[in-house]
Amino acid sequence: MKRILAVLTMMLTALTISNSNAKDNEMTDKKVLVAYFSATGTTAGVAERLAKAISGDLFEIKPEQPYTAADLNWRDKQSRSSVEMDDMSSRPAIASKVEDMSRYNVVFVGFPIWWYREPSIIDTFMESYDFTDKTIIPFATSGGSGMGKSGEIMQSLSPKAKVLSGKRFPADVSEDELKAWAKEWL
Ligand SMILES: Cc1cc2nc3c(=O)[nH]c(=O)nc-3n(C[C@H](O)[C@H](O)[C@H](O)COP(=O)(O)O)c2cc1C
Repeated sequence: MKRILAVLTMMLTALTISNSNAKDNEMTDKKVLVAYFSATGTTAGVAERLAKAISGDLFEIKPEQPYTAADLNWRDKQSRSSVEMDDMSSRPAIASKVEDMSRYNVVFVGFPIWWYREPSIIDTFMESYDFTDKTIIPFATSGGSGMGKSGEIMQSLSPKAKVLSGKRFPADVSEDELKAWAKEWL
């Protein structure tokens, strides 16, 4: 009888330990926001899949003045995007604010690579909140370029945050791939 009891106790202990491990591994113990800017929908798709994969809240960084096709013409030196990206102090206005940024521990920030870095509206975003003690993880889509200095620039605009260098993804990156990448910070 004593032996049976001992075995049962051991089994119960093992079960409790494995349960608490499962809890530690849950992807939701930190409050996560996925904020993104997308001019033509590619980054939006990745951001939506990421938010779904990690049960994060989703916020679109919408420009007060939407970008037209002419604005996005990178061949035209006078186009709005060319002019903005040529000026490191350019801060295009954002239409709305995240309701309560203080509740988030981790903020993924998505954008298309423009001229080898983050678009100026992301600079506006970085300067719009108090990111003290928050981890900011940039992610991007592009025609092929990597993240460039995006993370470094974003860190300089929000020195109290911990901004990582982040990762560029192909447009068709899967939910599973995004989850595997993001879980390190959750
Ligand atoms: C103004 C402008 C500049 C761009 N600069 C780059 C670049 O430097 N390198 C690159 O690989 N792609 C560049 N692209 C392509 C975009 O990064 C790419 O199409 C992106 O996936 C678009 O994302 P979106 O649909 O979310 O706006 C640029 C696009 C625009 C409109």
